[in-house]
Amino acid sequence: MTADATVMRHISQRAQQREVVGFHGVPLPDHVNRHLSPISLSGGRPHEGFYPLTKITYEFKDHPFGEPKVAEDASKLDLKRALNYGPTEGFPQLLEFAKDLVLLTNKPGYSGWNVTLTNGSGDSLHKVFNLLLDPGDTVLLEAYTFVPTINTIGSWGGSPVPVPINFEDGGIDVDYLEQLLEGWFQGQYQEKPFPKVLYTIPTGQNPTGLSLKESKRERVYGLAKKYDFIIVEDDPYGYIQLGAFTDGVDNPFDDDTYDSARFVKERLLKSYIQYDSDGRVLRLETFSKVFAPGARLGFIVGHSELIRRIIDHSNISTKAPSGLSQVSVLSAIAHSGGARGWIEWCVKVSKVYTERKNVLIRTLLESEAYKKGYFKYNEADAGMFITIDLNLPEGDDHRLELEGLRYKAIEKGVEVVLGKNMAFTPEYAKSAKFIRLTLATASDNDELIEAARRLSQAVLSFFEQ
Ligand SMILES: Cc1ncc(COP(=O)(O)O)c(C=O)c1O
Repeated sequence: MTADATVMRHISQRAQQREVVGFHGVPLPDHVNRHLSPISLSGGRPHEGFYPLTKITYEFKDHPFGEPKVAEDASKLDLKRALNYGPTEGFPQLLEFAKDLVLLTNKPGYSGWNVTLTNGSGDSLHKVFNLLLDPGDTVLLEAYTFVPTINTIGSWGGSPVPVPINFEDGGIDVDYLEQLLEGWFQGQYQEKPFPKVLYTIPTGQNPTGLSLKESKRERVYGLAKKYDFIIVEDDPYGYIQLGAFTDGVDNPFDDDTYDSARFVKERLLKSYIQYDSDGRVLRLETFSKVFAPGARLGFIVGHSELIRRIIDHSNISTKAPSGLSQVSVLSAIAHSGGARGWIEWCVKVSKVYTERKNVLIRTLLESEAYKKGYFKYNEADAGMFITIDLNLPEGDDHRLELEGLRYKAIEKGVEVVLGKNMAFTPEYAKSAKFIRLTLATASDNDELIEAARRLSQAVLSFFEQ
């Protein structure tokens, strides 16, 4: 089966029927000779003389939390272009960077792929599900997940079905998935259409911080081929790698031994798109976590036909991402030295996150609540979240009690996310005994230590009062 035939079958009727028509006339026939210096009285692009802004000076840090320095290459920024209307799919230089990064880290297993920029992964998800889902279509996804995606799926009429997480394997339970698909028409969801899409966060999963083993990824891709569904791989966290917590002081990124090549080879897990042979994976990346969320910039990698239709969607919605955002990100990339330099920045970010993970876990392990066995921690290996499991009896509904714990934590002065709030069915919400903690927001290690102490006190008082 060719890649084209595969992807065409999965495009929603809504997206198939979308026509994007311009008003600048049909392309010029060959016999028309263009004037060498035409004057444009077409379009609505203001001349740059109308713009009040003429220059931006950028300062960059070479390390997270480091001292800012003025960027020497800032003057090369094409601000005039950035301030005008630009190509819907994004500036060519940024697309080129995105492709370089894809080739360096996650080269697709077929040749007809392409990339489009978006306004971040939230926007990518909105467009991807518009592309794929007809009303009533079934989407499989991790039972605990980034909840806004459920809203997005629902807004296009899709119907989410949970797949449990196997904490040992670090992600989606592949045995369960296989049985679910095999027995679909006899099983619990037989009234629903056969699944069309699997949405997954395979690395540094939100909320668990876990990453699915590569051998399991290969099996999931095999199932996608066998049962003909699309994989939407949402990967905001993959470049933030966390070293294992040993005695809490080791940091593999401390000694600067990771250049970009070694980091890619030894630390990054394979994207589903690397297994892809027929265009059934859409991979979503974002600049939110390693540049800045306010940039509202991300990109999608996938089969060129699917990407073309996503660009059509952008044409009737967001248009191009903000030019100011694009030049800001581009200047940071130029400053760091292209795709390889960008990965080296990610190594430095990984170092700080690993240190934070060590500090947080070490403080939790020193607490009375931990020593009394009231909770255990789960090892997270990528991203910005870790979870702790509370020692509560299996099988009971703990939702109300846990809400009580959250209030206690707030009174002690620390805010956390309850696992139950990241489930989208009552079944999984009831059995969620974990709490998600983020490594990202504290201003420094001392603040993280204080947060861990407050949380431990809240847990102690939850179990003892
Ligand atoms: C799994 C997941 N997907 C998507 C997003 C949204 O990212 P963006 O800021 O690029 O819209 C987040 C943000 O927290 C996330 O955790």
